[in-house]
Formats: sequence, structure tokens, C-alpha cells
Amino acid sequence: MTTGWDIASAISLYNVDRWGGGYFSINAKGHVEILPTRHDAARIDIMEVIEDARERGLNFPMVLRFQDLLRDRVETINRAFESAIKEAGYQKPYRGVFPIKVNQLREVVEEIMDAGKAFHFGIEAGSKPELTAALAIHNDPDSLIICNGYKDTLFIQNALLGLKLGKRVIMVVEKIEELNQILEVSKEFGIEPMIGLRVRLQSKGAGKWAQSGGENAKFGLSTAELVAASDRLKAEGLAHCLKLIHFHVGSQVPDIGTIKRAVREAARFYSKLQKLGHEIGYLDVGGGLGVDYDGSRTTFDSSTNYSLQEYARDVVYNIMDVCDSEKVPHPIIVSESGRAIVAHHSILVVEAFGAIEKDKAEVKVVAGPNDPKLVTDMLEILRSISKQNRMEGLHDAQQIKEQAQNMFDLGLLELEAKAKIEMLYWKISQSIVEMCQGMRYIPDEVRELETALADQFVCNFSVFQSLLDHWALGQLFPVMPIHHLDTAPDRNATLVDITCDSDGKVSKFIDLNDVRETLPLHKLNPGEPYYIGFFLMGAYQDIMGDLHNLFGRVNEAHVFLEDDEEDGFYIEETIEGSTIGDVLGMTQWNQTELIRLIKTQVDAAIKGDRLKPNEAMRLLGAYERVLKTYTYLQLSTTNGTK
Ligand SMILES: Cc1ncc(COP(=O)(O)O)c(C=O)c1O
Repeated sequence: MTTGWDIASAISLYNVDRWGGGYFSINAKGHVEILPTRHDAARIDIMEVIEDARERGLNFPMVLRFQDLLRDRVETINRAFESAIKEAGYQKPYRGVFPIKVNQLREVVEEIMDAGKAFHFGIEAGSKPELTAALAIHNDPDSLIICNGYKDTLFIQNALLGLKLGKRVIMVVEKIEELNQILEVSKEFGIEPMIGLRVRLQSKGAGKWAQSGGENAKFGLSTAELVAASDRLKAEGLAHCLKLIHFHVGSQVPDIGTIKRAVREAARFYSKLQKLGHEIGYLDVGGGLGVDYDGSRTTFDSSTNYSLQEYARDVVYNIMDVCDSEKVPHPIIVSESGRAIVAHHSILVVEAFGAIEKDKAEVKVVAGPNDPKLVTDMLEILRSISKQNRMEGLHDAQQIKEQAQNMFDLGLLELEAKAKIEMLYWKISQSIVEMCQGMRYIPDEVRELETALADQFVCNFSVFQSLLDHWALGQLFPVMPIHHLDTAPDRNATLVDITCDSDGKVSKFIDLNDVRETLPLHKLNPGEPYYIGFFLMGAYQDIMGDLHNLFGRVNEAHVFLEDDEEDGFYIEETIEGSTIGDVLGMTQWNQTELIRLIKTQVDAAIKGDRLKPNEAMRLLGAYERVLKTYTYLQLSTTNGTK
């Protein structure tokens, strides 16, 4: 352990206690550990999981899923509503649904459904494919299937099939024309539909997903359309088919004030429609329950200024308050929390395999007889820099670097001299940054230098496949090394991926006060793996990833707690990521045809004496084998085969 550094220092540096929600910690070995049920006695050392997965031949990047944690989230959310309902004396229960769009992986959905059985926890589908899966997996007549999203005839027919199978399938009308369509198809099949109406609230969310709410939202009915829908249902003698009022102000709502306002407005719509003669049983508050990704407990985009319990209490209280004042029965409360259920359960583990360093401290620079004066001037600045003259020294060094660049552009500076000047510039910058460390006020210029001096750690993954919301929306996730945390980090770095895209990088990290531009990491030891974890990755990222550069889906391991195992866990299942053949197939490249085309060229090369037959067969074998391998780099630090 480094002097002055201990495990508590690591926990504090990476804010683990703030964003971890009680699920993450660091053990005495300096490894990140997970407490899937938040009980001290049940801890899993993530490095042990990594070792186990490697022994099974799985390579990195890899997603680790902790199924017990998923169950804990489902139970925690349901219990939060149960206790808020009890505390407030609310007269109806809570019947949550899992919005399958947030993570459609069968094993994830099955686990959630199983954990939610005791609470009659249902499922929300936003498209035909999602409903197709939901209908098959759902088997509790007391839980709901909520159908959101635009619908066509087949969608409606499938929802009606669900009703006939004894399921409570509620079709939520997103635009007024959809109501006519639902009524027509239902009439044709002689089935009474269960209908929900999505209201377009004035209340608008805040944060990155705020566009889902407000008057200009893509979905939902205006007040006039709600009245028209009510009239239409009454005219058809189907007033009783209106079962649910729904709204959604957007995902990751950072401010509880937004939730309160929206819930009150929706409860008012519910009450008024109830009074128009509809026995609406349910009020659905949609998604939006946020996750405190940065641990700041603020209204910053990547945080929330409220807890789960506060959310549940506010939803229950505000619905009750409005309904009581309107003297209408309390509705059954439905929520469609996705992110808050699945975010915590998965970790993306990537391997850093190289560092691009600005300042290589071990390289000594000396002026040669042919070097221009600029080199000796720079050496002099480095020699004489002190606390008293550091800013002057920095400005002089910047000037020399600029002059050197101008001379190079005019062909007046040789490569060796340019290299020396740049190396000296970074050395001077490094010593200025070190001089300013721990100071109460650090000038902006020095802060910028700090970022400019950061290493770039090259990591074997694709931002576009595994971290899409970071690339597209700047969403922040907690990131930290999985091991070596018993030693103080000695480098500051940004992370770059292996795509050939300059956007394939992570240079924004969580911070309690702001956003960090660099992440503290450890110097890489050649030949030794260095694992970095991206945490709270379970919501949305898995399915949104794309195939940029044809880097495909990543390997997965599903981990369960197990008392009988020495390490306290077992990997129940591994799902192999895409092979090169798979991703080529997705873009219409047929493997057999590819091999045939290459074989023809190899035959021609043999005939033309450019290849010997033996050599040709070995190279052809390599081409055939590559199609069956993982799309990511196979690093020498990793001993697996796939
Ligand atoms: C209609 C609807 N319900 C629920 C959700 C899930 O939201 P969250 O993940 O914030 O809980 C979404 C996602 O944006 C949504 O569009």
C-alpha cells in the first residue's frame, strides 16, 4: 500500500460510496467488490469473476451481470411503494411494470419477472416485437401488460390475444386516431379492449430526456383530444373500457419538483375523466425515476436530488391529495421505472493495453551541436523553473513551441529538434502542474495543462457499441479501475477505444462538483492486464450499441451469489459476443462466399508462384479461423481463445 493511501482513499477518490447505492465497495486486496443484496455477508470480488470468466475462454470487453442485484432492485422499488402507501393510508395498491425497452435481454426480463411475482409486477411494451416477447413471458393475471408506442392492426390484434388469454393488457392511445383503430379491430374480434390514454402534460421535464414531455411532445393527447376520446367511448357504449391514464415526462428526471408537478397534473386529468363517467382504475406515472450516476445528489443531468423512497412518497401523496380534493376514488398506481431497476446490475469490463503519454519522464533531453538555439532556450527554462517564475516560464515555453512549429512549417527545423522541443515543453508543463498541486487556487491555464498532459489509455472496446449514450448525449457513468486500488493512482488519463473514429473516446468523468476531464489511473505494467470498469451500465446501453467498424456485441457472464462456492458466486451462464462472421453476416457478407473469393485469389497466387502451397494453406486457414473469432483485439495479456 502506498504511504498515505488506503482503501478509504480509493473509495473517496472514485466516489464509490456516493454513486454505489450500497452495492459496490473495494476490498483489502484493492479489488472492486459487489454486494448484490447490499448485505455485508454476501460480497463478490470482481477480479475473481474476471478470472473465472477468463478460464472459461471469454475475452474482454465483457459485460458482467449480477442477477441477485436485479432482484434486489425489483424488491426495493416495490417495497418503497408499499411502505409509502401504508404510511399515507392510500387506499389502492401499487402495480409497477418493467419497460422492456430499457433492457430486452431475456435473462434480464425473466429475472425481473420472477423477482416481481410476489408484487404482481408487470411489463411494458413499446413496439410489436416487445409485445411479442412480453405476451409470452407474462403469466400473472393480476399483473399488467401496458402497450405504449404507435400501434398498427397486428399490434392491436396481439394485445387482444393477450386479453383473451386472461392477461390484463392495456393499450395506451398515443394519438387520437389510434383510438378509432383500437375500437375497430376490437369490434371485429368481438373483444372489449382495455384502454389507456396518454395525456400531454404542460409539465415538462428537465435533463437530457426532457423532450418526452411538455406540449410539443411526440406522444399524448391534448385536453381537447381527451374530451373527444371520452365522447367517442361513451358513444360506443364503452365508457367503462377506459382503464388507465398515463404520462411520461422523460427518462432520468433529475429534479423531484418536476415529478411532483407532473403527478399532480396527471392526477387532475384522472379525476376529471373519472367524473366524466369513466371508472378508470389505474394512474400510470411512466418512467423517469433517475439514477444518481455521479453521486452528487443534485439536479445535474447525471444525478437526482431525491431518493427512491422520496420519489415513492411524493407520487403516492400527490395522487392522494388531488384525488381526495376532487372526491374521486384512489387509482391503483402504476409506474414504468426502467433505468432505476436495471442500471446497477451490470458492469462493462474493458482492458487497457497501451498508454499514449505526453511526457515520458525517463527520456532525458540534451542539446546536440547541430540543434537550434530554441532547444537550448527550452532546456534553460526547464533548468530554471521555480515556484516564483513558473507562469513566466510557461509563457516562454509556449512561445518557443510556437516558433518551432512555424520554423517546421517553413522547412527550417529538423524532426529531431522538433521532437526535443516538444518533449521539453511537456516536461516543463508537467513540473508546473506538479508545483501547483494542492494549491488553493490553480490558474485556468494550469488546469488546461493538466488535461493536455493526461495520458490516453487505449482500451479494447468500442464506445459506439457499449457506451452509446455517452457518445450521443454525453451521459456520464462511473468509471474506475477494478484492481490495484490498494495503490495510489499515478497517472491521469482519458480513455480511447479501438475504433478508427476520433469520437471513440471517454474524456468526461463524474465529479461531485463538476465534470472531470481526466480519470486517475495506474501506470500500465507491460504484459499485465489492467481492467477498467464502467458501472451502472444496465439501462439502455446494451441494445442501443451499433456496429461501427463492425465491432460487435460483447461477451457476457451472468453471475449469481452462492454460499456453497468458495468465492461466494458462480457464473450460471455465459453469452458469447458476436464473431467476425456474425457481424459480416449482418451486413450481407456471406462467410462461404468470402472464403470462396479468397480461395480463388490464393489459387491464382500459387499458380503465379507468389505463394507456396503449404504457406497458402496456412494463410487460408487463418482467414477461415478469423471468421469464427471475437471482433475485438485478442491481447497477449489475455489467455482466452475467444
Ligand atoms: C413511455 C415510457 N415509459 C417508461 C420509460 C422508462 O423510463 P426510465 O428508464 O426513466 O424509468 C420510457 C423511457 O423513456 C418511456 O418512454
